[in-house]
Amino acid sequence: MSTKVATGRETKVNEILGAFALSPGSTVSGVAYGGAFATNPAGAVLDTFDPCTGEVLAHIQTAGESDVARAVAEGEKAFVRWRTVPAPQRGEIVRRLGNGFRQRKEDLARLISLENGKILTEARGEVQEVIDICDLAVGQSRQLFGKEIASERRDHRLIEQWHPLGVVGIISAFNFPVAVPGWGWALALVCGDTIAWKPSSLTPLISIAAQKIYHEVTAGTDAEGAFSLVIGRGGAVGEALLADQRVPLIQATGSCALGERVSAAVARRSAKAILELGGNNAVVVLADADLNLATRAVVFGAVGTAGQRCTSTRRLILQKPIAEKFLERLTAAYRTVSIGDPLEAQTLMGPLISSDAVNDYREGLAEMQKQGGHVIYGGSVLDGKGGYFVEPAIVKSKADMPIVREEVFAPILHVFEVDTIEEAIELSNSVPQGLSSGLFTTNLTSAERWLSATGSDCGIANVNVGTSGAEIGGAFGGEKATGGGRQAGSDAWKGYMRRQTCTINYGSELPLAQGVSFPVD
Ligand code: UN1
Repeated sequence: MSTKVATGRETKVNEILGAFALSPGSTVSGVAYGGAFATNPAGAVLDTFDPCTGEVLAHIQTAGESDVARAVAEGEKAFVRWRTVPAPQRGEIVRRLGNGFRQRKEDLARLISLENGKILTEARGEVQEVIDICDLAVGQSRQLFGKEIASERRDHRLIEQWHPLGVVGIISAFNFPVAVPGWGWALALVCGDTIAWKPSSLTPLISIAAQKIYHEVTAGTDAEGAFSLVIGRGGAVGEALLADQRVPLIQATGSCALGERVSAAVARRSAKAILELGGNNAVVVLADADLNLATRAVVFGAVGTAGQRCTSTRRLILQKPIAEKFLERLTAAYRTVSIGDPLEAQTLMGPLISSDAVNDYREGLAEMQKQGGHVIYGGSVLDGKGGYFVEPAIVKSKADMPIVREEVFAPILHVFEVDTIEEAIELSNSVPQGLSSGLFTTNLTSAERWLSATGSDCGIANVNVGTSGAEIGGAFGGEKATGGGRQAGSDAWKGYMRRQTCTINYGSELPLAQGVSFPVD
């Protein structure tokens, strides 16, 4: 490796970190509460790596259990004030937060590309997703509607209203380090809640940068201190947050295994959870589909973000008459995908997040082959490049291979062939997860069949659109092992509030519901 390349990278890393007053190799606090970073957090020091080189970017001081307790206490203190601020004024703060992300969009996108490894255009899209959800939340802040219900009792009014909940715990994953937590905090803030955020330990610098934007925008406002950051290992920090009686709601994004832990912990104390867990998403291509459209969607879905989205396309179900032709097109398109530095404009696929992720890819492929799968494209770890680079892979699989039911978080696509749309729907629905799905067809009957009650069983069902890249306007989430939670648009805001049913008697009688008579003087 020549010195010139190393120096070029160093300059880039310096610039990107410098934009957030961070520097390579330094030790930074990963804990903030009460509107400022903690100077001496109690947890161990954690390293964060450049996935392109495997080199350490910085050292992070993480939270201990006492920091989590403090963050929640500060969140409660801020809540007492924040919940009394009229919702549209809370929306005004969220508008400014959205503008804060607008102003720092390029800087933050470059940091995301550097630490997470997604290509720059996707990193920009991710920051845009935060801006979009802030815009949505601002509008929502004037629309936290309740209902008026016809009362069965004379001179009675029956209403349903929504109140702030309290300190919301947000546990987020490395793959969408700012957008997905943003779906939570933007809505939670307009709903009058405060936040304790435990981001992924794999992307700490991105969350520290986001926290800095939060501090810059909210200093001196009613929202100061409403947003805490507790970076740290799930086993310590995550568990402490899950067990904290003062946290009425946990929003968690991650694996199905994480979901089980969250569900059990919140169930023990009767708290609420909004879960977005694993996906195992299928695209079906029928014989009458526009193959050009389908090819582009499948490549973006399976190779985009190096196959590390919850919505990534993991299974491709082809109707037999076009199967061979489609696979030829698909492999030809795969061959054009340039793999490399995600900050370079021509790159379409960056590295995986970590050496563990590379191992999962390697072991996943080996297991697929052991179970009867046949690799028809890619499959190598690109050791020579340094860092965590792999080739995207396509595997001809059999529906009864047990590993097909699992989410391997890597750019590996299983391919199956079917005769009919009925068979395709059955196969698409045959896995434990139920996040996203897409059907490619030009036939109206097939499209409606796919969207009917007997069609796709996923939270997201598309027609002539791939499985990934949803807009924030719709509710996001999935069924079955994906956890059933909904985040982002539509009426997902209701998850961040408590519902209250109120009956008001403006008469002089006390009629009882259901006609019950209880004469007493
Ligand atoms: C995720 O991978 O957890 O629909 C979220 C998408 C993005 C969000 C993905 N808007 O692919």
